[in-house]
Amino acid sequence: MKILLLTHPMPAAPFAAAIRALAPDHELIEYRQDIDAATLAEIDVVLGWQMPRGVAAKMPKLRWVCAVAAGVDKLLVEDLAEHVPVSRIIDAEQAEGIAQFVVLMALRHARALPLYEAQQRERQWKRSPIAAVRSKVAVLGTGAMGSVVVRLLGAVGFEARGWSRASAEPLASVLGASDIVVCALPLTVHTEGLLDAKAFAAMPRGSYLINIARGGHVVEADLIDAVRSGQLAGAALDVQRREPMAADDPLWTVPGITITPHIAAQPSTTTIAAQFVEGLRCVAEGSPAPHTIDRTRGY
Ligand code: OXD
Repeated sequence: MKILLLTHPMPAAPFAAAIRALAPDHELIEYRQDIDAATLAEIDVVLGWQMPRGVAAKMPKLRWVCAVAAGVDKLLVEDLAEHVPVSRIIDAEQAEGIAQFVVLMALRHARALPLYEAQQRERQWKRSPIAAVRSKVAVLGTGAMGSVVVRLLGAVGFEARGWSRASAEPLASVLGASDIVVCALPLTVHTEGLLDAKAFAAMPRGSYLINIARGGHVVEADLIDAVRSGQLAGAALDVQRREPMAADDPLWTVPGITITPHIAAQPSTTTIAAQFVEGLRCVAEGSPAPHTIDRTRGY
């Protein structure tokens, strides 16, 4: 099969090497901006992170799109023909890695580490009363990531529970009962901008947000206002609306907001290659690839 590698900003070469090691007979083509229409017209399968504008419409033979990630939102473009199935990578190790990152950030906040880091800069040896962590955490998203996050938070003493759009309890009441809110939702038309001024106002004063899902879930200007006003104590954002973030992005300099460059965890290239090659086999036989998403839901 002819496979287009659309992994930018990740380099395509490691993916190509890992796929070739398992399935040497396929033709792997790295996407370039000047790729010609004749090459695109012959593509059977895409392995990618993001579909550049206008490219999907130029691949009439496309039979399958496989994300190199847990989330597929950047591949679900309007001009991707409706019949083309899209699948994602499920990597248990990535879910553990993400959950570890959430625990790290939740403990850092709940155990007031930023306070002691600030004191150290001032050479102040000053103790404040602090109890073992029992904070209430709402994890928005109960899928492959969210469920592992809830488990790991519980293991270190947090009172964690999951919430999804299918839950009976309204979001505002879940937010209102949480010291920490973790976003682990898929990004869809229903969840885009879900964490806005209204959501932050529903959270208790001094509460904290951790986002390991997609920047698009958060209305960043509203978050900045909520943190600057003290409504939220802060936020840990591993994902942002514009990645990579520009040097003049206002998020960089808000006291209380911690920025990391989408490093909570990524699926390993080996896992991606193995699931992709398994998917190729299924597609060649005319059956669905593993972890095919429901395109109407977006996840
Ligand atoms: C993601 C990933 O979906 O890194 O963000 O897998």
